[in-house]
Amino acid sequence: MRRVLVTGANKGIGLAIVNAILSERDDTFVFLGSRDPARGEMARRALLTEHPTWDDRLAVVQLDVTSDASVGAMVEEIRRRCGEQFPALFGVVNNAGVGGGADLRTTFSTNTLGMRRVCEACVSLLDPSAGRIVNVTSASGPIFVGGCSPDRRRLLTNSQIEWSELEGFIHECLSIENGKEGFARRGLGDGSPYGLSKACANSYTLLLARRFPSLKINACTPGYIETDLTRPYAASQGKTPAEMGMRPPHEGTRSVIHLLFAELEGNGHYYGSDAQRSPLDRYRAPGSEPYRD
Ligand SMILES: NC(=O)c1ccc[n+]([C@@H]2O[C@H](COP(=O)([O-])OP(=O)(O)OC[C@H]3O[C@@H](n4cnc5c(N)ncnc54)[C@H](OP(=O)(O)O)[C@@H]3O)[C@@H](O)[C@H]2O)c1
Repeated sequence: MRRVLVTGANKGIGLAIVNAILSERDDTFVFLGSRDPARGEMARRALLTEHPTWDDRLAVVQLDVTSDASVGAMVEEIRRRCGEQFPALFGVVNNAGVGGGADLRTTFSTNTLGMRRVCEACVSLLDPSAGRIVNVTSASGPIFVGGCSPDRRRLLTNSQIEWSELEGFIHECLSIENGKEGFARRGLGDGSPYGLSKACANSYTLLLARRFPSLKINACTPGYIETDLTRPYAASQGKTPAEMGMRPPHEGTRSVIHLLFAELEGNGHYYGSDAQRSPLDRYRAPGSEPYRD
């Protein structure tokens, strides 16, 4: 039995990813990560009401990606449940994230540093020759990079970037004052916390894939999906989610499922919601020509 951990899986795209894995892969067990165990349990019960036979392939694991203690306890819990079985995990889907309403510190600490914390803690649970990590980032990352000055763009797309450099960049961003003007003066566009955090998460994916070349480590955007993260934006525009072009959660799983289970060429790439490679520094519309290096 393959085992996959999905973070932030009690609702939205994460829950849809759990549903898709269990529906499409009857050889796969899912750890449904939820920072609130009660919300995780509600999600598990909802899935089992529809599919009672999934009971032996689904477990909730408490996981707040911003907490070392929580991530450490999650690793111990997975080790305990798996016992002698190796590898403990076939794959990790880093889906947990916060949206545009959160401040820069919270956004970095969840979308970038939280993702990194889970990756670093889970690498030892994966099969070193075949394990997979899928980082759910966003098209907001490449769009953000596209609005940066050339030197910032080079940094955020540098395939040889080191963690010390990326961490230094994050600290610099956290120290910038004067809002949008401060960011613009430093070649960082409008300083959108969400776009910045996802651009850095894409860069981190590059460097992690370089460190572990025998794993398959990639990032993707799910597309524009109606969830609690996006609904407030539709409301602020006086439109329905459908009028804004948002798709239902199950349509946000395509790239993740591809990156978890399909044959892949290469490593450390970023994919669009159509499961095709996309560039790190500009938006590529789904269905258009795939990106090539
Ligand atoms: N929706 C879109 O159009 C879209 C587009 C591009 C990328 N994405 C990305 O897709 C991912 C899922 O987003 P979504 O749209 O499904 O949003 P959502 O419905 O708001 O779900 C976000 C999930 O992340 C969890 N989460 C937040 N902070 C966490 C933390 N510190 N530790 C653990 N879990 C945490 C939430 O848990 P709680 O229930 O406890 O808050 C929830 O389960 C995010 O990474 C988002 O950036 C979404």
